[in-house]
Amino acid sequence: MQPDPLFTPLKLGALELKHRVVMAPMTRMRSAQPGHVPHALNAEYYGQRASEGGLLITEATDITPQAQGYRGTPGLYSAEQIAGWRAVTEAVHAKGGFIFSQIWHVGRISHSSLQPDGALPVAPSAVPPSGDHTDASGKQVPFETPRAMEEKEIAELVRDFVTAARNAQEAGFDGVEVHGANGYLLDQFLRNGSNKRTDRYGGSIENRARLLLEVVDAVIVAIGSDRVGVRLSPWGTFNDMSDSDGETLWDYVASELATRDLAYLHVVEPRADFTTDLPVDASAPDAASRFKSIFKGTYISAGGYVAETARAVVADARADAVAFGRPFISNPDFPERLRTGATMTWHDRATFYGGDHRGYTDYAPLEGASQSCVA
Ligand code: FNR
Repeated sequence: MQPDPLFTPLKLGALELKHRVVMAPMTRMRSAQPGHVPHALNAEYYGQRASEGGLLITEATDITPQAQGYRGTPGLYSAEQIAGWRAVTEAVHAKGGFIFSQIWHVGRISHSSLQPDGALPVAPSAVPPSGDHTDASGKQVPFETPRAMEEKEIAELVRDFVTAARNAQEAGFDGVEVHGANGYLLDQFLRNGSNKRTDRYGGSIENRARLLLEVVDAVIVAIGSDRVGVRLSPWGTFNDMSDSDGETLWDYVASELATRDLAYLHVVEPRADFTTDLPVDASAPDAASRFKSIFKGTYISAGGYVAETARAVVADARADAVAFGRPFISNPDFPERLRTGATMTWHDRATFYGGDHRGYTDYAPLEGASQSCVA
């Protein structure tokens, strides 16, 4: 019998993974308040999802108070947060697993009620996203027009990413994933629907990619390229993103990242919309086929995978590993269920964001599974 392509070892930067089923980063908004501190409940959640030689990527984590865009997201800028994360990394390592911290700044996907001193959110340009956002009290309010960042603030931002990466190391993480996806600050700089700058961070593709690459390079200097991954979402429209020439932009970004000897590139397939449970959009471009060959290094593909498509993308060498989101929420032992073809538990969307242990740490392991689902 052929070996299962998902369950063969993989060298990923400094790590030797035992399998290729990665837990995708997922915001769950359950840090302890005040202070946005990871606590015992979060350590239990990640510990439940750890597996021998498997990689987890944390929920997106605020690099500064200004980076915050949602209630209850954890940070990585205070001593309490570092201590809280240390308990998380210890719980994962105790099971022989690995864990990267996804470090982010939300940019314009915030609200003044969530910002230090009630200031306006910052962005590459004063262009508001369309639609609504949840404010600090939980009310739906229209997005505000963000304030365009000054050039000197951009240099500070790069330093903030570096500090967060060093803090991640201190907290025992195996590496960091720079969040360049899903319409948050680094993605807002990349795309010309949100970036209207006329300085060296706007205009040409090279200029728009400058901030992402400066952040990546500075983080590499701080913790080593084999501990750094990058996440991108080419053509993704979440958070009102658009670009007039996605192909040239994403090819350029992938080819630049290819020169940096990263631990991995992690790309979200544009077909996936995790805000609904509708079938994937089969007509969307196939990012894995395009970017794996440009990037050449270790490539993680995510978005709308089921067992069969995940095995195929690895078997066809269009990806080296597959990250799963929603199935990991409701199946704490997801890699093992995938390996054995066991029944899967369906997720409860109502408990994705915020709340307590319900819909978080109370999904039963294998023997308690009931309803069958996608994978
Ligand atoms: C996400 N996703 C996500 N992505 C990211 O880069 N950082 C994040 O913090 C989050 N947060 C988040 C929360 C929740 C509840 C969901 C369901 C998703 C996107 C996620 O990583 C993944 O790309 C999508 O879920 C698609 O993969 P699946 O769910 O189809 O396997």
